[in-house]
Amino acid sequence: MKIAIIGGGPAGLYAAILLKKQRPEAEVVVYERNRADDTFGFGVVFSDATLDNFEKYDPPSYRRITQEFAYWDDIAVHFRGTVHRVGGNGFCGCSRRKLLLILQERARELGVSLLFQVEIEDEKRFADADLIVLADGINSRFRDKHVAHFQPEVDVRSNYFAWMGSTRPLDAFTFIFQETEWGPFIAHAYQYEAGRSTWIFETDPATFERAGLKGLDEKRSAERMAEIFGWFLGGHQLLTNRSMWRNFPMIRSQRWVKDNMVLLGDAKATAHFSIGSGTKLAMEDAIALAEAMEHAPTIGAALQLYEEGRREEVEKTQHAADVSLVWFEHVDRFWKFDPVQFAFGVMTRSKAITYDNLTLRAPDFVAEVDKTFAKQVRAKGFDVNVERPLAPMFQPMRLREMEIKNRAVVSPMCMYSAKEGVPTDFHLVHYGSRAIGGAGLIFTEMTCVARDARITPGCAGLWNDEQEAAWKRIVEFVHANSAAKFALQLGHAGRKGATKLMWEGMDRPLDEGGWDVISASPIPYFPDSQVPREMDRAAMDAVKAAFVAAVERGERCGFDMLELHCAHGYLLASFISPLTNKRTDEYGGSLQNRLRFPLDVFEAMRAAWPSHKPMSVRISATDWAEGGITGDDAVEIARAFAEQGVDLIDVSTGQTVRDAQPVYGRMFQTPFSDQVRNEARVATMCVGNITTADQVNTILAAGRADLVALARPHLVDPAFTMKAAAWYGATDIFCPPQYLPGKEQIFRNSLRDRQDFEDLKIKAKPKTRAELKAAATKPLAAE
Ligand SMILES: Cc1cc2nc3c(=O)[nH]c(=O)nc-3n(C[C@H](O)[C@H](O)[C@H](O)COP(=O)(O)OP(=O)(O)OC[C@H]3O[C@@H](n4cnc5c(N)ncnc54)[C@H](O)[C@@H]3O)c2cc1C
Ligand SMILES: Cc1cc2nc3c(=O)[nH]c(=O)nc-3n(C[C@H](O)[C@H](O)[C@H](O)COP(=O)(O)O)c2cc1C
Repeated sequence: MKIAIIGGGPAGLYAAILLKKQRPEAEVVVYERNRADDTFGFGVVFSDATLDNFEKYDPPSYRRITQEFAYWDDIAVHFRGTVHRVGGNGFCGCSRRKLLLILQERARELGVSLLFQVEIEDEKRFADADLIVLADGINSRFRDKHVAHFQPEVDVRSNYFAWMGSTRPLDAFTFIFQETEWGPFIAHAYQYEAGRSTWIFETDPATFERAGLKGLDEKRSAERMAEIFGWFLGGHQLLTNRSMWRNFPMIRSQRWVKDNMVLLGDAKATAHFSIGSGTKLAMEDAIALAEAMEHAPTIGAALQLYEEGRREEVEKTQHAADVSLVWFEHVDRFWKFDPVQFAFGVMTRSKAITYDNLTLRAPDFVAEVDKTFAKQVRAKGFDVNVERPLAPMFQPMRLREMEIKNRAVVSPMCMYSAKEGVPTDFHLVHYGSRAIGGAGLIFTEMTCVARDARITPGCAGLWNDEQEAAWKRIVEFVHANSAAKFALQLGHAGRKGATKLMWEGMDRPLDEGGWDVISASPIPYFPDSQVPREMDRAAMDAVKAAFVAAVERGERCGFDMLELHCAHGYLLASFISPLTNKRTDEYGGSLQNRLRFPLDVFEAMRAAWPSHKPMSVRISATDWAEGGITGDDAVEIARAFAEQGVDLIDVSTGQTVRDAQPVYGRMFQTPFSDQVRNEARVATMCVGNITTADQVNTILAAGRADLVALARPHLVDPAFTMKAAAWYGATDIFCPPQYLPGKEQIFRNSLRDRQDFEDLKIKAKPKTRAELKAAATKPLAAE
């Protein structure tokens, strides 16, 4: 068998080693354009888990690599004169040059031919090869040559970065966030061998320009960085080696395989340096390829297996890298944060590390995070304990004169169980039990302002006396038996109206008994949905009057808060999104025009709603579709409602058009809440695949939202908040007297359960290599 490998970086060399081990008789040749010891870059970083992998697949190279390593456990965040350290991370660094020399040496031992200073221009030269590995790096000539087949998507990011080195020793993965007269600079730095550390400097385009870095040569830009970070470098030099400023290209390829050619490493996909995974991904690709070659009957089948088996893992890492890079691109959002909250945000930016996880690893740091949060609450006039603070989820909040006991919210959820819009006993039990379950605030389902404003025949409404009386009964029950505040969500279905109950066909048009529907423009939701009538001003006035009438009824019912539903493709959302609003009058066109009618409705509702009671607006912060609403638009939308006196933006996404492509995942909508809150400077509630109290605390402590709503988790667990209160020891959570023995029991048991859980977690956690190394080199005790 003949295997040709183009590129002698980590991916190509490691693939050569593993394939040659597997097939000693095969002719494996690596072609590299550079000289053997001619390598750019400084250190590379691996996690303990990656090293475990290397140990399994090639112990000799693993041993040599790890002899050369610098280990560390801590991440240190320097910001505005403070430093916060978090341990237990288990990382190691080594020099990229040494890594490549070790891999070259090992490859030679196994009989791989390494040909240096050979530039491959055309793969046809390998016509007789059984397998061609394209490991030619980020600017892959071969990926570009077959661009129509591999279909790479290259997203060049806005921030500038430059890779440098230093002699400054470091005992932690170090992030330094530095304010300068030009704007913020960030250093990502770690030691990779004695007396050598990697330094990646990063800044946004405007700061880059203002700092005069454009056009500066390597030496002078290193001098500029040394001036900025001189206080930390302490006289140590910055070293350069092709350390040019560039923009990071996020690359994803639709296909990784063409005939007998396969893309590996950076050629196939990149991951932003802030999660330190470029070299790891490259070498793990080689492992996946070797595994596939071991198990598949033919090369064709092996390449298919490699692509199918590896894609999910690569995409997961890329997603984490994406989230992380976006955080760094928008660091100015958090620049005014308290340093403790800022450091917590850095640590938790890519979702892998959470509040609970940090509590185990760095309890003192989390205690400080809790204190900082509690101090902010105290500054708002609440008499909360700052010395022994409760977790953020159990800190109170005020919106106008409404006080909420904790930050967990039951998200609005249609129950499709009303009779002619009248809520039934099902609703009484549903809302009643969730209120008793401990959430600080509960929302009604979308309550429709008119009969033909309903989504389905089962939707609840508030347009007549019977409905008003039924809601009043539910509100009174909630107030009498719980500490929850109750918000009424009002909406109009628009073009998604006259559709079936959720369990009979979500958003599908009714077979019979439907009614005429209206929208911003006459565009049906599904091709076979009813074509809505485009609203004229008279129709708008009628809808506005219906909203105002429902507000007045809501006040008579005794609701504490009001929400206007401007999300999910319903009537008001259909005005906001350019995908559903094609009007040419003053209600269409620019965002300002598209917001005109929703703002008009909001203003009229605000005027009818008592001024001491708060109002929120639910928005779809992105349409997840080409040409639709984006996060930046959401900031503008939030600002526009804030000017009209909104107290909270309830940040949801999507459901506006059928061909949307949402990117789901844990807490997947939270970045939009983060953006709206910290750019428009308005209080937000986030929602969407948030399932644990740990996530709630992580979001709140990092300042990504002020309230956290959970929908589906509350369907199966009305007592979600009560259970979380027991776990975090929030003893003063309200419980009706009938249920007190249950509360006492769960609080007693939770204390023990939590202790057991933490002991187990700590016991089950293997020692990091840094800890093992420290233990091995510790002098023996003198007993
Ligand atoms: C300037 C820079 C500095 C970096 N520094 C670091 C660092 O310090 N630490 C770190 O962890 N990561 C660093 N990275 C990222 C890291 O290099 C990659 O994520 C990782 O090396 C990917 O491995 P790879 O084998 O896929 O690609 P590469 O390491 O890029 O290897 C590809 C190889 O293919 C060769 N090649 C390309 N085309 C041809 C051809 N036509 N014929 C023959 N040979 C060819 C190239 O010379 C190169 O040696 C750096 C990246 C850049 C751009
Ligand atoms: C059964 C059900 C009904 C829903 N009805 C509404 C609604 O009436 N109004 C609304 O704004 N969102 C509604 N939603 C969306 C939720 O409020 C929430 O935004 C979404 O489910 C994501 O949160 P989750 O991941 O916690 O479920 C509904 C969701 C579900 C599951």
